[in-house]
Amino acid sequence: MADTNVQLQELVAEMESRRAKILAGGGTERQKKQKEGGKLTARERIDALLDPGSFLEFGTFTEHGHNRLMQGIEAPGEGVVTGRGTVNGRQVFVFSQDFTVLGGSLGKMNAQKVSKVMDLAAKTGCPIIGLNDSAGARIQEGVDSLSGYGEIFYRNAIYSGAVPQISAILGPCAGGAVYSPALTDFIVMSRGSSYMFITGPEVIKSVTREEVSFDELGGADVHNKKSGVAHLEGEGDEDVLRLVRELLSYLPQNAREKPPVVPTNDPRERTTPELLEIVTTDQRKPYAMHDVISTLVDDAHFFEIQPLWAKNIIVGFARLNGKVVGIVANNPKVMAGTLNIDASDKAARFIRTCDCYNIPILTLVDVTGFLPGVAQEHAGIIRHGAKMLYAYAEASVPKITLITRKSYGGAYLAMNSRDMGADAVYAWPTAAVAVMGAEGAANIVYRREIQASANPEATRAEKIKQYKDTFDNPYVAAAKGYIDDVIPMEDTRRILIQTFEMLEHKEEARPYKKHGNIPL
Ligand code: HXC
Repeated sequence: MADTNVQLQELVAEMESRRAKILAGGGTERQKKQKEGGKLTARERIDALLDPGSFLEFGTFTEHGHNRLMQGIEAPGEGVVTGRGTVNGRQVFVFSQDFTVLGGSLGKMNAQKVSKVMDLAAKTGCPIIGLNDSAGARIQEGVDSLSGYGEIFYRNAIYSGAVPQISAILGPCAGGAVYSPALTDFIVMSRGSSYMFITGPEVIKSVTREEVSFDELGGADVHNKKSGVAHLEGEGDEDVLRLVRELLSYLPQNAREKPPVVPTNDPRERTTPELLEIVTTDQRKPYAMHDVISTLVDDAHFFEIQPLWAKNIIVGFARLNGKVVGIVANNPKVMAGTLNIDASDKAARFIRTCDCYNIPILTLVDVTGFLPGVAQEHAGIIRHGAKMLYAYAEASVPKITLITRKSYGGAYLAMNSRDMGADAVYAWPTAAVAVMGAEGAANIVYRREIQASANPEATRAEKIKQYKDTFDNPYVAAAKGYIDDVIPMEDTRRILIQTFEMLEHKEEARPYKKHGNIPL
C-alpha cells in the first residue's frame, strides 16, 4: 500500500514538474522581455480575456514534431496555449500564441492545437478568439509549417459565418500569421506593440529599396486608418481584450442564435426632441450623425467599428430597447457623406457580418451620391459600390432605412432603399429624395431654357426652385410608396423599436444556390 502511495506521489510530482515547465513558457528572461513595453504573457492574456477561473486548457503537453532541424530545441506548450472559457458567462474557445517560445512561430503541432479548439468551437457553436503574437511560419519546420497554416486558414474559411471569429493582434505578426486574422470577422490591434505585414522591413528594403519602420509599415494606426485591415485599436493588451469582451456582447454564439438582450433603463418610449437641434435644414451644412445615433440608441452607447477608416460612412453596434442592431450611416461631416471605394467596402463587409449573425440593420441616409472622380472610376468604384448593393439585397435580417436628409441617385439605392429589400423605410420632414441635387438637375434638364433666357441667372434660380418644390422633399417618394411614413423626429426611437419588434420573426426565402457571387 505504502509503495503504491509513493509511486502515485512520484507520478503526480512528474506531472506537476512537467506542467510547471510548460507554464513557464520560454523562461524568465524571454518573459521579462515580453513584458517590457507593457505586453502580457500568453497566459496572462487569457486570464485578462476570460471570466476568472473559467479557463480549461487543452493540449497542454503537446510537443513539436521533432523533425531534423528541431532536434534539441524545446518548445514548451508548442508555443501556443489553447482551451475554453467564458466571457460574461458565455462559452468561447481561445488560442493564445506564446512569443517567448520560438517567437510564437507556427509549427505543425502548434497548428494542430489551434485547429482542435477551432473544431470544438464549431461543433459546440461558440465563438473562437485568437490572441495573436507570432513570427509566422516556423522556419525549421519548412513545409510542415506551411501545411499547419493551411489547416487553420481552411477552418477560418469553413467556419466563417457559422461561429464568430475574433482576432486580437498583440505583437509582431508576420507572414502566415496575418492571413488567419484576415479571414476572421474582426481584427483588434494594440497600438504601439502590434504589427501586421506579409513581408517585413528587411525584405522590403532588399526588394524595393524602400526604408520603412515596423510601425509605419504595419502598426495599429496604419491598419486602422489606412488599409482598413483592422476594425479597432486599443492602448495595450488589456484595452484590446476589453474591446474583444465588449464586441462579443453584440454577437450571438453562432449563426443559429440571436445576440443576447441586455436590459436597459432607457425608456422604450423616450422622445428624441434633441434631433431637432442636431439636424440642420440647410443642405450645405453638415451635422453630427454620431449625435443622431447616440440620441436614438439605448443609453447613448454606440460601439463603432472601423471608426478611423473611411470615415465618410459610419458602422457599428448599438441596442434599441436592449436588442442589438447594426447601424450603417452616412457621415455628412466627411466628404459630404459621399460613397467611395473604401466606404463601400467598409459598409458591405459590415452588412454581411450583421446578416451572418442575425443582427438587424438600421440604415441612416444622408447622401448626395457616389464620389465623382477619375481615380475612383479607374480604381473600380463600380465593382466596389456593387458590393453594397449586393450586401443589402442579400441580407435577410430585418432592415429599416431612415432618410434623415438627402438621398440622391445611385447612393439612394446603395443605402438600402425599398426596392433593395428594406422592410420599412422612414423619412424625416427634412428628407429629400431625388435623382440628384436641385442645382445639378436644373442645369441639365433646363439647360436650353437657361441659355436662351434674357436673364439666365434668374431663369436658373427659378428652375432650381421649381425642381426643389417638386422633388426636394420626402412626399413624392412617400406618395409612390417608396417611403412608408414621414415621421416626427422626436418619435423616432419609439417608431424604430416598434418596427424592429414587428420584424422580430421575419423570414425571407431565397432561391436555391450554392452560394452567391458577390463582386469582390
Ligand atoms: C522560428 C523564429 C521565427 C520563425 C523568430 N523566431 N521568427 N523561430 N521561426 N519564423 C525566434 C527567434 O529565433 C528568437 O528566438 C525568437 O523567435 C524571437 O525573435 P526575435 O527576432 O529575437 O524577436 P524580435 O526582435 O522581437 O523580432 C520579431 C520578428 C522577427 C520581427 C517577428 O523575429 C522576424 O522578422 N522573424 C521572421 C519573420 C518571418 O519572416 N516569418 C516567416 C514568414 S513566412 P530566441 O531563441 O532567440 O528567443 C510565412 C509563410 C506562410 O509565414 C505564408 C502563408 C500564406
